[in-house]
Amino acid sequence: MGKKLKKIHQIDENPNNLVISQVNQALERVQEEARHVYEMAARSILKALDLKDNYTYGHSLRVAQYCLILAHHLGMEKDDLYELELSALFHDIGKIGIPDNILSKPDRLNAEEFEIMKTHPELSYEILKDFKGFEKISLNARHHHERYDGQGYPHGLKAEQIPTFSRIILIADTYDAITSSRVYRKGLSNQVAFDELEEFAGTQFDPFLVKQFIKAMGQHISKDQDKTYITLITDLEKLKAA
Ligand SMILES: [Fe+2]
Repeated sequence: MGKKLKKIHQIDENPNNLVISQVNQALERVQEEARHVYEMAARSILKALDLKDNYTYGHSLRVAQYCLILAHHLGMEKDDLYELELSALFHDIGKIGIPDNILSKPDRLNAEEFEIMKTHPELSYEILKDFKGFEKISLNARHHHERYDGQGYPHGLKAEQIPTFSRIILIADTYDAITSSRVYRKGLSNQVAFDELEEFAGTQFDPFLVKQFIKAMGQHISKDQDKTYITLITDLEKLKAA
């Protein structure tokens, strides 16, 4: 996330080694503190989402978890895991700006309501874009409803034009939308979700990522792991309860 401060490299015979190591330690402390401030701000924003719409809050935590299961399966590195986790946690943050009667409507949205709902990825981008270090995260959120065939929104991006993490979020998002329970309907099985993802691989979803997602989730479910990969959010009670 963001640019990293570069450590100064030590040269064995350098008499200033002690000073260099002190500078490096100070840099690490600054980075650690900056990260701490980011995480506090991130939690506060998520709390606001929780108060606005508890379902979307739980959904965001689960989507982050599913994204990271795939990311670990793909062998992603720490910095990417962190960026993906934050992108997934914040992908729907723009729903804060959607009126309650649309956000919580149990019935199908009419055309006008759907147009309003479709503004949420752009709103997510607007909320996140000026947060230093969130440049990529804001873009990943902005494009999480783009479709692989270019028929999605907001920009109609196609295939590799869509940021990889946005493509991953869409898959995890769809999986959770199918498997999670709402007040008005019970969640469907993993298999129903896998079938739906496979059916629309290549049109809505990145086919390679769908294949890997099903593999990763299948392994995760069969091992019945209760281990979660979420590092930012430790309050998982809502995740389990949802
Ligand atoms: Fe969304």
